[in-house]
Amino acid sequence: MTRILDLIAGARPNFMKLAPVVRTLVADGRLPFRIVHTGQHYDPSMTDVFFEELGIPAPDVHLEVGSGSHGAQTARILERYEAHLLERGAAAAVVFGDVNSTVACALAAVKLGVPVVHVEAGLRSFDRTMPEEINRILTDAIGDLLLVSEPSGVTNLKAEGVSESKIRLVGNVMIDTLMTQLPVARARAMPERLGLNGRRYGFVTLHRPSNVDQPETLGPLLRLLHELAQKLPLVFAIHPRTVAAAGRMGLASLVSEGQKDLICLGPQPYLDTLSLVSGAAVVLTDSGGLQEESSVLGVPCLTLRENTERPITVSLGTSRLVGNDAERIRAAFEDVLQRKWPAGQPIPLWDGHAGTRIVDALASLNGRSHAT
Ligand code: UD1
Repeated sequence: MTRILDLIAGARPNFMKLAPVVRTLVADGRLPFRIVHTGQHYDPSMTDVFFEELGIPAPDVHLEVGSGSHGAQTARILERYEAHLLERGAAAAVVFGDVNSTVACALAAVKLGVPVVHVEAGLRSFDRTMPEEINRILTDAIGDLLLVSEPSGVTNLKAEGVSESKIRLVGNVMIDTLMTQLPVARARAMPERLGLNGRRYGFVTLHRPSNVDQPETLGPLLRLLHELAQKLPLVFAIHPRTVAAAGRMGLASLVSEGQKDLICLGPQPYLDTLSLVSGAAVVLTDSGGLQEESSVLGVPCLTLRENTERPITVSLGTSRLVGNDAERIRAAFEDVLQRKWPAGQPIPLWDGHAGTRIVDALASLNGRSHAT
């Protein structure tokens, strides 16, 4: 049986979580590993640039699955990762976050008796209309070692009857990346490069199906962004899914480049995003990662969702849930403009050392039998 760990990443939010684990494994030297890229994200701006900026070695295995419906994409990953495991085996499959690659590889592994380690386990939005919620529940149900980023994750897993012996609260590994990269990111001076020298501005991302897939939701949201941008310039880093949806709906002019107050850009590399977020007066987003990053940076975050699987960003951090309702968003935005926003408090174990705790937990897998 091989002693090589598979570290599996496929979509943009995985890469910032993978990087510190790889760095720590290399420095530690105890555990041999392979990087498996599923290819769920494939545009260079959604993947290659993250590997380069974060110093992640090129993947050892690339499954090249590309886009598709959820069923098709998940099935392709499952089939191709299973073939890889049948040929080469693995000491464990380490999966990250809540994307389709996470659940597909976990399922392939567990059926072959390969232990599954889930980094960012236990988070729950309690909203089963979110594809990510299904991915989280299923991955945790078949995981052998569940590495949790915030206390709610431990509570949720215990409530689902998961044995305590599988659960470790290790903190938020994405914050390791933020802390390492912040000085480099700030030096990139993105606000200045966009002509925002010394001005207050906001940073926006939107990509969740619940916000971008229906014209009756996306249209009003885009018009609202234009309205808010009259009060505070907004930098909008637009996900390919959102650009495609706006195009289909005849809304392309609302997200075109070259506008003065709503500065529309394509997906941004990690360092440029961090540069923009760290200098922003406010973030408007439906991204889970950005809720966490703005909380650590003390930047007010209007979370354009009705729920969050990361409740600590609301209780201790700087996030407020505003849904996609124009009145709630306007009211929160006004609070930001008037600087009426709680500063947020430090979040336990979001301290830049989660990678070390994860590698220690991986080392403890040695000798543990595969749970049935
Ligand atoms: C995925 C994750 C989501 C995560 C997001 C971050 C799932 C279920 N969703 O959503 O949790 O927050 O990544 O980005 O796994 N596309 C491109 N180029 C790419 C990738 C995608 O153009 O490199 C376009 C395609 O039109 C594709 C669409 O984006 O159909 C959606 O991509 P997909 O990977 O299915 O989901 P995301 O919306 O990116």
